[in-house]
Amino acid sequence: MDEHDLDDDPIAQLQAWLEEARDSVPQPDAMTLATADEEGRPSARVVLLRGIDERGLAFFTNLTSRKAHALRQNPRAAVVLHWWELGRQVRVEGAIVEVSDEDSNAYWKRRPRASQIAGWASPQSQSLADRSDLDARVAEVEERFDGGEVLLPPFWGGYRLVPDSIEFWTHQDSRLHDRIRFIRSGAVWSQERLAP
Ligand SMILES: Cc1cc2nc3c(=O)[nH]c(=O)nc-3n(C[C@H](O)[C@H](O)[C@H](O)COP(=O)(O)O)c2cc1C
Repeated sequence: MDEHDLDDDPIAQLQAWLEEARDSVPQPDAMTLATADEEGRPSARVVLLRGIDERGLAFFTNLTSRKAHALRQNPRAAVVLHWWELGRQVRVEGAIVEVSDEDSNAYWKRRPRASQIAGWASPQSQSLADRSDLDARVAEVEERFDGGEVLLPPFWGGYRLVPDSIEFWTHQDSRLHDRIRFIRSGAVWSQERLAP
């Protein structure tokens, strides 16, 4: 990978790599999201990238989950996308902002009904007595909505990672992999090559 192979705009470059990944990677939108709580204790989990534009990378979740608690205490995050089939990795770091209610609602409406029911029924990251506890919650939510529209829960929504660092990595058999990192200062991105 040469510096000149990459778009000057790293968001456009990430969009291009994502599109290329769709041809060979089963779930190219899966990304590992790392957060840290107020004590600096890290945690990581996979979420789906559900929107990328000049504003940043959006994902959706339960706003009472462990990740949501951490993001309220410490609104910064890092994500990693890895596409084994392409020998590519992208690392993104930045500040976290909440997605507007309008955008959360628009995404919610596109989700399958079963996912909407699950969103209501699951107290994400909290302890359950057993599996039947969850099944009972699902049955209760299904009865409540009774075949009607399943509205956006007040405890569900999106976050946007506003990048200030984006690194593109490509595999080399020599193990001398290529790494090019973009750093944002205000509205201007600059790039540097990092040692593998
Ligand atoms: C492929 C994959 C995609 C996932 N997508 C999401 C997602 O978009 N949003 C979400 O809240 N959890 C998603 N999860 C579940 C999370 O990994 C995690 O179990 C859950 O969000 C609770 O995390 P927390 O306790 O750290 O908040 C996904 C898991 C996998 C394996």
